[in-house]
Amino acid sequence: MQRGSHEQNRRSWNLVIAAHDSHKRDQAGFLRAGGSTLFPDELELLGVPDVIGVGGPGERVLADMSPETGPLAGLDLLHLQCNVGQDTLSLARLGARVTGVDISDEAIARARTLAAEAGITAEFVRADIYDWLAATAAETTRFDIAFASYGALPWLSDLDTWAAGAAAVLRPGGRLVTLEFHPIAFIFDEQLRPTYPYFGSGRAVVNPEGIGDYVARSGELLAPSGWQSGITDFKNPQPCHEFQWTVADWLGAVIKAGLVLEQIRDYPYANGCQVFDDMRQLPGRRFAMPAGAPDLPLMCGFVARKPG
Ligand SMILES: C[S@@+](CC[C@H](N)C(=O)[O-])C[C@H]1O[C@@H](n2cnc3c(N)ncnc32)[C@H](O)[C@@H]1O
Repeated sequence: MQRGSHEQNRRSWNLVIAAHDSHKRDQAGFLRAGGSTLFPDELELLGVPDVIGVGGPGERVLADMSPETGPLAGLDLLHLQCNVGQDTLSLARLGARVTGVDISDEAIARARTLAAEAGITAEFVRADIYDWLAATAAETTRFDIAFASYGALPWLSDLDTWAAGAAAVLRPGGRLVTLEFHPIAFIFDEQLRPTYPYFGSGRAVVNPEGIGDYVARSGELLAPSGWQSGITDFKNPQPCHEFQWTVADWLGAVIKAGLVLEQIRDYPYANGCQVFDDMRQLPGRRFAMPAGAPDLPLMCGFVARKPG
């Protein structure tokens, strides 16, 4: 475990969050009106296959759904590395009792404000996920679902301890649900030139440019409440430390933690995130490989259950 890297990442995330949020219009109003930032792919992995949205043909309308009648009603859900809490609050709108944990002071402060302004009940905790999992495992609080998504795993310096910690805070029969960008995508630079090794073996890769404004780069696809120009030309003076893990590393850690793999899926598109230049936009806020490039798995999702 590399706590120094985690603290450095905390500094880098603290600075970038304002830039990310500056591109998103009235998130509280969007959530209050029944909007959801969730994609059908994680809903399917969570066992909620219906498309949820603010309305339209075939969609179930969140605004008409009370937490008591939502498809996750009665479940305790832990959102690991929850960032500013938009997905956490969208999950709460489906009825789950949610706890979001994130290392960034700025992310958690904004998540709490968003919850209050949107009128959605949620608990947000600022902590290094490793400390929080260890402390919670030693107490009695337990969850039905532990959920991590979209850029949560590359910040983990020790996958085995993370997976064991998530397993420890699940109830028997509870599920770890993860939907993540596929690590094969990160061997390429933005012009799709193979540049970085796939097998990182958990080594920290220091990025002197820090966490960038990927919301600006992805435009409205990462801003379902509406996009605005916000902060321009953001530069992050705080470097960040990332960890390149393979899919086998993820699943090896999950198996070692005693969880039973129930589902694994890969996807030829990246939800919300423009990973390379010139990606093709698909309906549903997705990016596909640039025209002429062969398909690659751009996301990978899995569900693993704690034996009951
Ligand atoms: C790309 S964001 C995840 C996005 C998230 N899935 C969402 O719903 O918006 C990655 C998050 O991981 C958090 N993080 C990084 N290292 C962490 C750690 N050691 N403990 C807790 N959170 C961490 C960052 O602060 C950041 O908010």
